[in-house]
Amino acid sequence: MAFRPRHLLGIEHLSPEDIHSVLDLAEQYVELNRRTVKKTDALAGMTQINMFFENSTRTQSSFELAGKRLGADVMNMSMQTSSVKKGETLIDTALTLNAMHPDLLVVRHGSSGAVDLLAQKVECAVINAGDGKHEHPTQALLDALTIRRAKGRLHRLTVAICGDVAHSRVARSNLILLGKMENRVRLIAPPTLMPSGVAEFGCEVYDDMRAGLKDADVVMMLRLQRERMDGGFIPSEREYFHRYGLDAEKLAFAKDDAIVMHPGPMNRGVEIDGTIADDINRSVIQEQVEMGVAVRMAVMDLLARNLRAERGRALTGETYV
Ligand code: NCD
Repeated sequence: MAFRPRHLLGIEHLSPEDIHSVLDLAEQYVELNRRTVKKTDALAGMTQINMFFENSTRTQSSFELAGKRLGADVMNMSMQTSSVKKGETLIDTALTLNAMHPDLLVVRHGSSGAVDLLAQKVECAVINAGDGKHEHPTQALLDALTIRRAKGRLHRLTVAICGDVAHSRVARSNLILLGKMENRVRLIAPPTLMPSGVAEFGCEVYDDMRAGLKDADVVMMLRLQRERMDGGFIPSEREYFHRYGLDAEKLAFAKDDAIVMHPGPMNRGVEIDGTIADDINRSVIQEQVEMGVAVRMAVMDLLARNLRAERGRALTGETYV
């Protein structure tokens, strides 16, 4: 199986073959997760530490469950109460953890690039669970698996990513992944929430939602990331919903069989109408959560295989290529 990376820091480092390797293995884990007995021993004897410097509900629990189902010993570091609060630097925390010999570190951090930096200081495999506005690779992979299962393919689709693009690592990772797989990506946002220079990623940019949604196969909605805003980016939530909230009238511009996605957490009545989110004929939001566990199992399984191979080579004196 292809997939040689040591860490999963971003989609930008992955080839289309790497992406398909993760998704193909994840399909097997989707099956396993639907059984009564959901355990394997792919990570038996290994230690996984989850370090979430930013709050998370679904991503952290998804990684925890994924590690446990693979047989790893999983520890959740509570970063709210850790020594980081007492002024310890990220690097000191990393070195302390490194001395405990973990095999996998899952890290979420508020600063773009922090996870890359940490990966350079430790000997284990590092997975980026979201760094600032930069990347959230497992989210893009789980979105890709959801799309591939719903549409039967992951290429030549028109995907509209809509909302607070400027502050979204989900949008960025999806844009890179969908571009690598030769899809047509449209970004829809008010000018204040559209990052400058984004057209160089080869996507189309819209500020009119109806025009952007026209004939889309996939509609991906984003939350307003207020915690990353330092001013008035939108006039009011009411006005925002009126212009950019996904409701039945706007969704009618997309293809009749278009699917609706959202990474969560959702703000009903702000970026999405609750009835659309709950419409099982259109919304795949719950499937995204299910695919999340399977994709994270696949990623950790593949990284653990590479880690074992690397350690095996080190023991026999070969160099890692
Ligand atoms: C996203 C994140 O944290 O970047 N959520 C998630 O991972 N489920 C998107 C968001 O917070 O809006």
